[in-house]
Amino acid sequence: MNLFLLIISAYLIGSIPTAYWIGKFFFNIDIREHGSKNMGASNTFRVLGSVWGIIVLVIDMGKGIAAVQLAHAVQSSDWLSGEQTFWKLIFGLVAVAGHIFPVFAGFRGGKGVATLFGVVLAIQPWTALISIGAFLIVVFLTKYISLGSVIAVIVFAACVWFAVKETNVYMRWFSVIAALLVIVMHRSNIKRLIAGTENKFKGLRKKK
Ligand code: G3P
Repeated sequence: MNLFLLIISAYLIGSIPTAYWIGKFFFNIDIREHGSKNMGASNTFRVLGSVWGIIVLVIDMGKGIAAVQLAHAVQSSDWLSGEQTFWKLIFGLVAVAGHIFPVFAGFRGGKGVATLFGVVLAIQPWTALISIGAFLIVVFLTKYISLGSVIAVIVFAACVWFAVKETNVYMRWFSVIAALLVIVMHRSNIKRLIAGTENKFKGLRKKK
């Protein structure tokens, strides 16, 4: 399949605005006008309750996993296709960008964390599990999901650079770009964390 079409497909997969569509179709609200105003799983937990939060989390991670699979369609004759991991990471990064700037929701999306961890889970599962472990520990100790997300992407990049011996060079640079992207997307959370006004996770609950 044509590389351009594959990249567009990865973007369209990432663009599926799960939290926005669930809010619109089932509750007639724009999730981006409620809670933290973020179109992501944690704001869905906050605004619509745990069941919908888990559904958004699973689908948003699934977008990352699905985008990575597009690399299997890259023909060996295509330009620069020597390394399949390279294409997995490109399609994964494009899907994360699609989640952040979704064409189906006016280019106002989420922060890319769940989709990024779907990408990593599909390529380097142990690194993803260690990062998710770091996320859970931070959230358990501090109740701040945003802090958990930022620490998790830093742990992800640190694992890729310093712990996983067979990591290739593309994965290393992907981890740096992805970590910086997620940190930049959390700039308002970081300001609130510093000011002591960040939302705390109130536990699993039935809301709507
Ligand atoms: O993945 C997003 C999360 O880290 C922060 O979300 O809604 O608390 O801004 P939120």
